[in-house]
Amino acid sequence: MSHLVTGIGQLVTNDPAIGDGSELGLLENAAIVLEDDHIAWVGQAAQAPATDRVTDLTGRTVVPGFVDSHSHLVFAGDRAGEFAARMTGEPYTGGGIATTMAATRAASDEELLNHAKALLAEMRSQGTTTVEIKSGYGLDVEQEARALRIAAQVTTEVTYLGAHVVPPLMRDRRDDYVRLVAGEMLEACAPHARWADVFCEPASAYAFDGDETRTVLKACAAAGLELRVHGNQLSEGPGAQIAVELDAASVDHCTHLTDEDVAALGAAGQRIDQENPVSGTVATLLPGVEFSTRSPYPDARRLLDAGAVVALASDCNPGSCFTSSLPLVIALAVREMNMSPAQALWAATRGGAIALRRSDIGRIRVGARADLAVIDAPSYVHLAYRPGVPLARAFQS
Ligand code: NIG
Ligand code: FE
Repeated sequence: MSHLVTGIGQLVTNDPAIGDGSELGLLENAAIVLEDDHIAWVGQAAQAPATDRVTDLTGRTVVPGFVDSHSHLVFAGDRAGEFAARMTGEPYTGGGIATTMAATRAASDEELLNHAKALLAEMRSQGTTTVEIKSGYGLDVEQEARALRIAAQVTTEVTYLGAHVVPPLMRDRRDDYVRLVAGEMLEACAPHARWADVFCEPASAYAFDGDETRTVLKACAAAGLELRVHGNQLSEGPGAQIAVELDAASVDHCTHLTDEDVAALGAAGQRIDQENPVSGTVATLLPGVEFSTRSPYPDARRLLDAGAVVALASDCNPGSCFTSSLPLVIALAVREMNMSPAQALWAATRGGAIALRRSDIGRIRVGARADLAVIDAPSYVHLAYRPGVPLARAFQS
């Protein structure tokens, strides 16, 4: 069945070959034809073909559905008390991950799945149409495999994060835990995941140093998983450089970067084939985390000026950032990280798609998936201009 979506006051295609020639490929008075799960036609509303069904958006804005390339949705419990303590001066250390581990292990499969689905529904209602989901609150062989099986029921972008932290009972046996994550746990988890990730943070007693990170990531790559890295969140460290060295798709957080890190990410960005991203490392920024941990925001312009490909994601998790809202993330990126509204929107759509090495999402063109978000406003700029106002929603064909 063909479905004409017309009356689009402003259409953001993210295709410079369409429309005004800018990076966002803007078209005014536009229309799109959807056929099943893909886009069949894009152009001026006045030239639209006849279809089986018509929706008139009466001047609203349409953008590619947001691509949230970093989340931790399989968990139970919350850590509101830890958040409140942070707001009165406690630092974020990652130590609370053990609290969520205990609650998650105690929850049933059904509880975890229903909770993840509820968060996904929250995301959709704010314009997100693709979500990456990590494990990392199980931290033993069975529990990590269980988390991935649950994640795989709701997304294809599933990430094995057995190396989130060393679980409490193994703190004095770190080497054994690294061996487990790179051995038996990986074997049980690899069939359920596309990606592997490590929380690389030598400054944290709970997370992993550079050598441990390399050991785990190399084993995961040998098992056929593609790589991502949590890096440079709490301090300068080797995460970003390791991500580039091992051709991880993305290094996420990037809060504390040296000039050398920025140069390496800039060079990596320039090597990415944006048309068909199959290699190269994106710098993914998660400003909801800085907001929720009272940390200094990274400067996105420093990365963009160096040539890096920048993505924005939510990092939705119960500890460092419990928001599901990419519009909030876009507004923070514009206000706090030196991004223009256009750069922030691109980073939350096409940037996220490239961070997931996907060419079928994050832009509106013939053949792409029919994943759209409608903004109840005359232009995409309102996403940052009207922070906290629920303007965006995923379009349901
Ligand atoms: O991306 N930094 C490591 N992991 C998550 C936080 C997890 C938690 O605190 O529960 C993050 O910020
Ligand atoms: Fe994270």
